[in-house]
Amino acid sequence: MTQPVVLDGKLLSAKIRSDLTGAVAGFVKAKGVKPGLAVVLVGEHPASQVYVRNKAKQTVEVGMESFEHKLPETTPQADLLALIDKLNADRAVHGILVQLPLPAHIEAGKVINRIHPDKDVDGFSAVNVGRLSIGMDGFVPCTPLGCLKLLHHYVPNGLAGKHAVVLGRSNIVGKPMAALLLQNDCTVTIAHSKTKDLAAITRQADILVAAIGRTKFVTADMVKPGAVVIDVGINRAAGANGKDVLVGDVDYAAVSAVAGAITPVPGGVGPMTIACLLSNTLDAAMRIVP
Ligand code: GUN
Repeated sequence: MTQPVVLDGKLLSAKIRSDLTGAVAGFVKAKGVKPGLAVVLVGEHPASQVYVRNKAKQTVEVGMESFEHKLPETTPQADLLALIDKLNADRAVHGILVQLPLPAHIEAGKVINRIHPDKDVDGFSAVNVGRLSIGMDGFVPCTPLGCLKLLHHYVPNGLAGKHAVVLGRSNIVGKPMAALLLQNDCTVTIAHSKTKDLAAITRQADILVAAIGRTKFVTADMVKPGAVVIDVGINRAAGANGKDVLVGDVDYAAVSAVAGAITPVPGGVGPMTIACLLSNTLDAAMRIVP
């Protein structure tokens, strides 16, 4: 049995961050300003705390300024909006990210759309969603952008004409992923929890992106031989030694026997997300600083 190509996000993201370190140094030298990323965390969601810590560490490692704002779970929405207004006006801040999910008493849409579109490095605001939808320059959400970079890097012969099936329709991954694949001339199908005869659809995929948040949901019988499989899932499961392990939405061992290429979890899409966030932040600084 031939082994699939492993789409190594750890390796590619390290290369992106290394290139970025050079580009940031060049920017600082030319402009006398460090690109700055503000990350806002409300509450104590355990996974979010880990992500925010990693983001701050890697921001500093590439030579950018990191501003962390940790607010209590009970923060009133008005206070969060006031902080965003302050960050929008702060000349040292070029990118703003509000970690999701937010506590239930806060309207995430209102908060995200308060971020100035030109500082919205997550690409979640209505303006940037619209820009992506019509192919205008804007910020593209970091996880789908990371998936696209993996595809461009590892998949020979380009994406044009390939049938891409995206599993999941979230605003963070599924919908922007579909828009990006369409922009890259794929034929795109979005499947979701109400889709009928799902396996018949996923088996048509040359490129299958799983972003549903269900452990090992994609099984070998759902995958066309030779397909490229991108696993966006980061699910926690009990490991053999009692410690939690990260498991994707794809049954990696079984699907590896069928797929032509596959992302591991961890070490696939995950590290690409932060690399793309940092890259978006440098882009923001380049647009904002004259
Ligand atoms: N929560 C899970 N993924 C993301 C992301 O890409 N950005 C933000 N802001 N929150 C998230």
